[in-house]
Amino acid sequence: MKDLDLAPRGRTRIDWADGQMPVLRSIRERFAREKPLKGLRLAACLHVTSETANLALTLAAGGATVRLCASNPLSTQDDVAASLVEHGGIDVFAIKGEDNETYYRHILQALDRGPHLTMDDGADLVSVLHSRQRELLPGIIGGTEETTTGVVRLTSMAKEGVLAYPIIAVNDAMTKHFFDNRYGTGQSTLDGIIRATNLLIAGLKVVIAGYGWCGRGVAMRARGLGAHVIVTEIDPVKALEAVLDGFQAMPMDEAAPLGDIFITLTGDKHVLGAQHFETMKDGAVLANSGHFNVEIDLPALERLARKRIRRLRDYVDEYTLASGRRINLLGEGRLINLAAAEGHPAAVMDMSFANQALSAEYLAREGKELKRTVHPVPPAIDREIARLKLQTMGVRIDTLTSEQQDYLSGWSEGT
Ligand SMILES: NC(=O)c1ccc[n+]([C@@H]2O[C@H](COP(=O)([O-])OP(=O)(O)OC[C@H]3O[C@@H](n4cnc5c(N)ncnc54)[C@H](O)[C@@H]3O)[C@@H](O)[C@H]2O)c1
Repeated sequence: MKDLDLAPRGRTRIDWADGQMPVLRSIRERFAREKPLKGLRLAACLHVTSETANLALTLAAGGATVRLCASNPLSTQDDVAASLVEHGGIDVFAIKGEDNETYYRHILQALDRGPHLTMDDGADLVSVLHSRQRELLPGIIGGTEETTTGVVRLTSMAKEGVLAYPIIAVNDAMTKHFFDNRYGTGQSTLDGIIRATNLLIAGLKVVIAGYGWCGRGVAMRARGLGAHVIVTEIDPVKALEAVLDGFQAMPMDEAAPLGDIFITLTGDKHVLGAQHFETMKDGAVLANSGHFNVEIDLPALERLARKRIRRLRDYVDEYTLASGRRINLLGEGRLINLAAAEGHPAAVMDMSFANQALSAEYLAREGKELKRTVHPVPPAIDREIARLKLQTMGVRIDTLTSEQQDYLSGWSEGT
């Protein structure tokens, strides 16, 4: 952790986020009474933000001993990390801007007491456990995974028969990806780009690679700011959806010379590569909001750079190509909403982290009975989180009458 003197500022930020996280707070209050995680050691590899701090405090209130490391070298809020150590009694291993070696050393430190439960965002922790810390695997009851890319990796592990303990795919809960991936990433990705560049989005051509949950959210919000949005996809259904949502869809080769800002959100590799950089306009801006920094082919961009790379502003690096055209890479190609902004708003993380906390409780209770594969969040948890969120927003909804219940579960009534 960087500096304990930052702790007071971290604490006020954690409190501010807490104000927007009423569902998680109600779980924390119950956990404090019931201690469902009593005696369990939990290793978490998550973006160390003020929202994550509230999750860590919830798990600790439930009786867990929590060790936390970062799930990305650029996403840590150092003041929050300091406050968690100083005020929360939680061991944190994370410094914003840490190099790759330190990043992995911190993962090992989060694991070194031998966890019973793991929480991951991108599956780096699980990957380290299965490659370098296999002796800890028998002690683990279960784990959770926060993001799409992590679920993809873990599902591959399960398919190959190498996943050594059950994982709950928190990302796949409806109260997670419908809101966090779409509205959270939608807003915070543009927030990161705007904070890094101060560009006026209105009138610009914004090319969005990937029209999944995150891409839809960013496209929707970019349009709201007045951008002309172009979508690139490899899935015909998603591309069709983008077109009927009113966006242009085309291959990246065609979009590359048109775009002013490019945003990758695919979970895939090298979506932007040398053939695209070479045709881009002077001053094109590249940002990634997908989980790993592989969506933009950074080694290719470095190879093409003819001059020394210039840092123009925090999180803006200028690459000058042989043609004299300049490309501005934001946040070193790491998720821009966490690198240059603060990640998702707390109100949306309230639901994601309520899923995390309730899934940890479920694993503590039932993990030993679960198969070593990737499991969905139990639907009852999903529905309960939606119900609580609506309640805290003061929104009431209808309930089925018994006549309607019979009608919807029967087949005899027709024309
Ligand atoms: N920045 C954040 O805070 C944040 C939040 C949630 C998820 N994520 C990450 O964002 C990424 C996307 O998540 P999602 O939930 O939207 O996933 P998703 O699976 O819903 O969408 C990904 C889309 O990308 C498309 N795609 C794949 N390869 C492509 C290519 N080469 N060109 C164009 N399109 C391509 C897929 O067809 C799919 O429609 C993942 O890495 C996820 O972990 C980031």
